[in-house]
Amino acid sequence: MLKEEILKEIKERGEIPFDRFVYLSLYHPKWGYYTGKRGSPLPGEDFVTAPEISPVFGKVLAFHLKRISEERNLPLRILELGGGKGFLAKDILGSIPVEEYIVLELGNFPPLPGIRHVKKLEEVPSFEGFVVSNEFFDAFPFKRILKRGGKLFEVFVGSDGDKLTEFLLPFKGELPCEPEEGGEYPLFVGWKEFLKELKEKFKGYFIAFDYGGKCKEVSSKKSFRAYRNNRIVEDYLERPGETDLTADIDFDRLFNVLSSSGFSRIRVRNQSEFLLSEGIEKAVSPSDSIAVLSLLVDMGRRFKVIQAVRE
Ligand SMILES: C[S@@+](CC[C@H](N)C(=O)[O-])C[C@H]1O[C@@H](n2cnc3c(N)ncnc32)[C@H](O)[C@@H]1O
Repeated sequence: MLKEEILKEIKERGEIPFDRFVYLSLYHPKWGYYTGKRGSPLPGEDFVTAPEISPVFGKVLAFHLKRISEERNLPLRILELGGGKGFLAKDILGSIPVEEYIVLELGNFPPLPGIRHVKKLEEVPSFEGFVVSNEFFDAFPFKRILKRGGKLFEVFVGSDGDKLTEFLLPFKGELPCEPEEGGEYPLFVGWKEFLKELKEKFKGYFIAFDYGGKCKEVSSKKSFRAYRNNRIVEDYLERPGETDLTADIDFDRLFNVLSSSGFSRIRVRNQSEFLLSEGIEKAVSPSDSIAVLSLLVDMGRRFKVIQAVRE
């Protein structure tokens, strides 16, 4: 099991930083939460995403992509990052005619007509068109940097017999903003490398939905969460591979990483503002009303959309 694998790694090489623990928990080839034999989590099993709540989300996004494609004369070639169970892909393909749809997904992806599944960005050919994602950037490994007694510490995972334990070491790197006393900053690892690689092969329009806020907002509390069976759990060290680990996104940082990776015209808005301005009312039927409330009110405030262009 994964816990034994992690204990073995710690015994051989010493304690591991929390981002390594997240990486192994989510993406270990055999036991990872997203990549393991058990397959990706079932829709709604541990968390529910906007495309899983209702096809309305994908429909509104599809009409938005079609409008941008007409206005900017961009081919409707779409790369979806972290496509999960394929709900968004299905809804987009069911709403607008698309020239090509590629899903980048590290985990298993259900075979769907008209969709090419790749596991690595290097398998994606250079293209002009669109890059879309929902809850992708929050699924990268992250370090946890805490402020205690006026000082910054980084969380490491070590072992005590057959138990995994957490402990703190002084943090030596730099943060985009300092957490408040008692708070913790989720320092995602790998965004920059990923976006630099993406920019090399892509020209066009980028749009990503995720939860989070400004740097100060995500670092003022503990923004790291572990989910199992749709509940927040604390025993994530005990059951790695069965537990989803995630944290709020610092949109200020994602903005800066996009900008320094060669993206321009970057804009961040609330998901609700985006859905309303794109005419969500035209995509709903009366039976969608509860889902729409969730998309606009609950998720609408916590979720943001970041749009950018790669020229
Ligand atoms: C929180 S899930 C969201 C799934 C889906 N987008 C949705 O909204 O239902 C994040 C997904 O991103 C995938 N993922 C994360 N990092 C990835 C990477 N670097 N390359 C490919 N897939 C990745 C995970 O395997 C997981 O399926």
